[in-house]
Amino acid sequence: MKGIILAGGAGTRLYPLTRAVSKQILPLYDKPMIYYPLSVLMLAGIREVLVISTPRDLGLFRELLGTGERLGMRFEYAEQPAPRGLAEAFVIGSDFIGKDTCALVLGDNVFYGQGFSATLRESVRAVETDGGARIFGYYVRDPKPYGVVEFDSAGRALSIEEKPAFPRSNYAVPGLYFYDNSVIGIAAGLAPSPRGELEITEVNNTYLERGQLSVGVLGRGMAWLDTGTYDGLLEAANFIETIQKRQGMYVSCIEEIAFANGWIGREALLELAREYRTEYGEYLRWVAEKD
Ligand code: DAU
Repeated sequence: MKGIILAGGAGTRLYPLTRAVSKQILPLYDKPMIYYPLSVLMLAGIREVLVISTPRDLGLFRELLGTGERLGMRFEYAEQPAPRGLAEAFVIGSDFIGKDTCALVLGDNVFYGQGFSATLRESVRAVETDGGARIFGYYVRDPKPYGVVEFDSAGRALSIEEKPAFPRSNYAVPGLYFYDNSVIGIAAGLAPSPRGELEITEVNNTYLERGQLSVGVLGRGMAWLDTGTYDGLLEAANFIETIQKRQGMYVSCIEEIAFANGWIGREALLELAREYRTEYGEYLRWVAEKD
């Protein structure tokens, strides 16, 4: 399976923070925001990743992440000239995906919780073997700003609506989606919605109509954090600081995950550790030497 990180958008909701720089490169405590969704793809076992961003910001991501070789991965980069919707990722990324299956994660979505890696690997396995699509529902107090999924009593998805004024449930759809190869054709056939975007919710509804959509519920023990407001950014950073200080283990450390996945060896990790004369570098050294 291939992975796409969509890290564009106008970012106007965080002005002036994002006037000159992409939201997804802003710090969340000790790492650039994009590390968090990148780590999600890595935990899913995905080694080839396309980063899509604006013509203005793409160079920043290239400078930050490079070819991926340092992590035993392969990164490609592509421009989205204007924020024409999340589903445009599959139009821009069609050559990159080729005949493969594909996961999409939004560059500003942060996930953390026990059992999440197993959920991710199971989602990859399900889509690779059975086809179709796998998305998630996450209970939130106010689902109105999100895609909202409604379930029947047997837990099957009944409907998905984008930013409904009157939500049919409290289950928001987080920005993490697993699709078979037909997503390329579905996205190519979409017309812009009334707000002028190729809607990911329309892609999901197409799979739903075909009886090929599975929606997993991310339970209470999972954190899906909001980074869409000043307060959300600060709270997410504080959450990460709290966990990391208490446990001494890092959230979404991409070098650690590459090492744990066996994509880089101990020597390569120590080499990366030597590049950072910071607590982050010390952590990498600790990971390399701990067992
Ligand atoms: O975060 C989950 C939600 O993401 C889902 O529940 C919704 O169904 C989905 O439509 C989306 O809603 P948002 O209102 O959060 O979408 P937004 O326009 O803010 O875009 C999400 C991220 O993707 C944001 O960081 C900017 C980036 N983006 C957005 C668009 C429309 C792009 O890179 N390109 C785009 O064309």
